Amino acid sequence: MSSTSSPRVQEQPVARIQEQVERVIEDLLASLPKTDQLSAEQRRGIIARYTAVLEGNFIYWMTGAYIAAGSDEARAKIMDNLREEVRDCHPGMMRRFAIAAQAIPTDADAQAVYRNLMNVRLFIGQLSPVPIVVTMAFFEGFIQRFMPYLADLARRQGSADMEYTDVHGVCDITHTQELFRALDAEVALARPVPEKDMFEGVELLRKLIHNIVVDN
Ligand SMILES: [Fe+2]
Repeated sequence: MSSTSSPRVQEQPVARIQEQVERVIEDLLASLPKTDQLSAEQRRGIIARYTAVLEGNFIYWMTGAYIAAGSDEARAKIMDNLREEVRDCHPGMMRRFAIAAQAIPTDADAQAVYRNLMNVRLFIGQLSPVPIVVTMAFFEGFIQRFMPYLADLARRQGSADMEYTDVHGVCDITHTQELFRALDAEVALARPVPEKDMFEGVELLRKLIHNIVVDN
């Protein structure tokens, strides 16, 4: 048994959560197919499925996190994100990115991610404070690291419009730290979360991302 005081005991779960989240991100990045081995149709498919998911859902997910979060720290952090999404019209930026890469989502692209996307939507609808903030921290961390890959696909599609990947690819260590501080505040407020629930959203989102990048 350790003799740590209670504030440190509260920090430990978040450090463990962050480690786990970073491991899932690393595994996903390692599983990405090599861009120079993809056909034009495979490149188009990845951008189109990513767009089909992000364009109309990211703000919904973040709004769910805002509604669910109980701590001032988490709500302030999420609101900053929502404000930027709306003010700078990120769905419009996403759409322009897909158009320029000749990868506008088709019915078949939307259908390909339908089930996994629905699972994430239903998870968000549960409005579970800690798991939802863990999920969004995971997603933000992943997106940041995924942007060079997405930009590479778009360039290979003949696109020069990199506004979306430039804006979302900024490696912001402060931002990540703030997210996990927000999670700390959220964990301190909430009842203990069973292990199987803690990473439910992360696992559903991991499956959805895998569906975007690997399934065709
Ligand atoms: Fe965005």
